[in-house]
Amino acid sequence: MLKHRRSIVGLDLGTNCVKAVEITQDRYDYIITAFAQVDVPSESVRQDAIADLFRVGRFRTKRVATAVSGKSVIFRYVPMPPMSDENLVSAVRMDAEKYIPFPVDEVELGVHKLAETKAAEGAQAEMKVLLVAAKRTVVQDQAAMLVNLGLQPVTIGVDSFAIGNAYELNDIVSPGLQEENHTVALIDIGASKSCINILRSNVSCFAREIPMGGQDLTNAIARRFGLENSEAEKLKREPGDQMADVQEALANVLDDLGNEINLSFDFFENQFDGEVQDVHLSGGTVLLPFLEETFEKIFEKKTRVWNPIEGLKVKADNVDVDALNRCAPQLAVAVGLAATV
Ligand SMILES: Nc1ncnc2c1ncn2[C@@H]1O[C@H](COP(=O)(O)OP(=O)(O)OP(=O)(O)O)[C@@H](O)[C@H]1O
Ligand SMILES: [Mg+2]
Repeated sequence: MLKHRRSIVGLDLGTNCVKAVEITQDRYDYIITAFAQVDVPSESVRQDAIADLFRVGRFRTKRVATAVSGKSVIFRYVPMPPMSDENLVSAVRMDAEKYIPFPVDEVELGVHKLAETKAAEGAQAEMKVLLVAAKRTVVQDQAAMLVNLGLQPVTIGVDSFAIGNAYELNDIVSPGLQEENHTVALIDIGASKSCINILRSNVSCFAREIPMGGQDLTNAIARRFGLENSEAEKLKREPGDQMADVQEALANVLDDLGNEINLSFDFFENQFDGEVQDVHLSGGTVLLPFLEETFEKIFEKKTRVWNPIEGLKVKADNVDVDALNRCAPQLAVAVGLAATV
């Protein structure tokens, strides 16, 4: 039935595990037509893990939307006088060297117009532009690796924007779920990094990556209990009757991460006229049972784990629905990448 509909695989090449969600658009419906997730025990087997993903996932298309992340991607906020979209790209490109640590001709540049900031009294209105620069060699190498695996990369974005897209898709498939004029912070806490996207009335105002995540939690447990990393990882995921000790061992790291995220809220609140009202958490680290409560205390804001697949239909004869639901909060980036195209 869905043969002729357009499908795309959102391929999240996470540090700890690769995830792929295929979304097929059928008129007004968005259907998850395939899904797979494979752990990446070390960098050296990443390519094999992606190959495995496509062996087990029964995807109907080879078109993939992915993202780059980490140190080779730079986020910069640039103030610009209001201007048209076409002029903006060339104006920012001309000035880019001022803002990024790489030569402009060696990077892929993304220019995102954000919501307008409040003008100081007597000052000219100004818009904030988010400049995302990724080293061209990194983007090209990733694309080549995917082509090598027989895939067709159609876009390469960044995780922070992907989670914003997943949230917008949520609004399309479940209208009314999100309040109007609402400011929500999406925080995806993975293994090596945490991505932030603050949206006001569904318009992105702020995006950032923080190089902290689940690996730092595992390291803290390894130190505290004198364990190997693999043992510490196991204890983190299944603390059983050591829950209180694990929670205590993680308190400082969670405090550091929470406070770093709070700085982003402060930046947003200073630059834009408004306050973050709700925090939506995603990423594998939110499977930690006490994370929601811990962060709610640090942020002093309503903080919830959200479900990026809520409202999406699922082709149950091709998808392990239980597995999909179990790791749903971990799929925000993959869903958002599939929703980009
Ligand atoms: N049940 C669990 N309890 C606590 N943490 C968990 C659990 N399951 C997975 N994690 C943690 O989630 C992290 C992986 O999450 P995720 O898949 O979102 O990261 P990633 O996308 O691979 O990494 P990154 O986004 O940093 O590149 C790991 O650090 C892992 O230890
Ligand atoms: Mg991730």
